[in-house]
Amino acid sequence: MHLELASAGGPVPLAALAVAGVALAPPTFQLRGGRPSDAAAIHALVEAHLDEGHLLPRTQSEIETHATRFVVATDGDRVVACAELAPLSSAVAEVRSLVVAREARSEGVGRQLVDDLVRRARVQGFHTLSAFTHGPAYFIRLGFSLVPHHWMREKIVADCQSCALFRRCGQSAVVRSLTDAGRGGRLVGA
Ligand SMILES: CC(C)(COP(=O)(O)OP(=O)(O)OC[C@H]1O[C@@H](n2cnc3c(N)ncnc32)[C@H](O)[C@@H]1OP(=O)(O)O)[C@@H](O)C(=O)NCCC(=O)NCCS
Repeated sequence: MHLELASAGGPVPLAALAVAGVALAPPTFQLRGGRPSDAAAIHALVEAHLDEGHLLPRTQSEIETHATRFVVATDGDRVVACAELAPLSSAVAEVRSLVVAREARSEGVGRQLVDDLVRRARVQGFHTLSAFTHGPAYFIRLGFSLVPHHWMREKIVADCQSCALFRRCGQSAVVRSLTDAGRGGRLVGA
């Protein structure tokens, strides 16, 4: 249905359309690479969703150091979503700190962030993109597969062995192959 936003009496206020139950265009979000100046906003997003996402706590200075590994989504000036491409080895990278603010959800922002990390990971020569999560179903929607933790030796060496919750964290390991050769084959790190 074509919707006229102006009538004989002049423009119709958007608020009136919303009250009338007319669906308005969803907000648009722009993706861009992270910058050191985004560190405070990314840190605040991660902190606000630590429990919900079972996220790894991050410090603002660590985020600032690795700001360019992040992709962020903004609704203008405000950062509403973030995700980091963190290397685990020369072949395997990890999706870290994936968060979409509640008001920006179910608009495909999370998928776009992960798609962008996939693109960046390929450009940087990684063979496998991994994630460690309490919500594997979301990643499976995005083309990842569940794998046994011990396939991900890089993650175990880099983070798990020194973690107080080693072997009892309840997280699932998921991976997405970034090479055609990797489809259906044994993954790097296995
Ligand atoms: C998970 C998260 C990043 C999804 O962001 P998003 O921008 O809403 O995602 P998309 O728009 O790409 O996809 C939304 C769809 O995924 C579904 N979804 C969200 N979380 C899910 C989960 N844990 N398992 C399965 N499906 C999930 C939604 O129900 C929605 O389904 P619909 O399209 O049928 O309505 C967001 O909910 C979030 O930030 N959660 C808190 C932090 C977190 O859990 N991070 C991941 C930890 S590894």
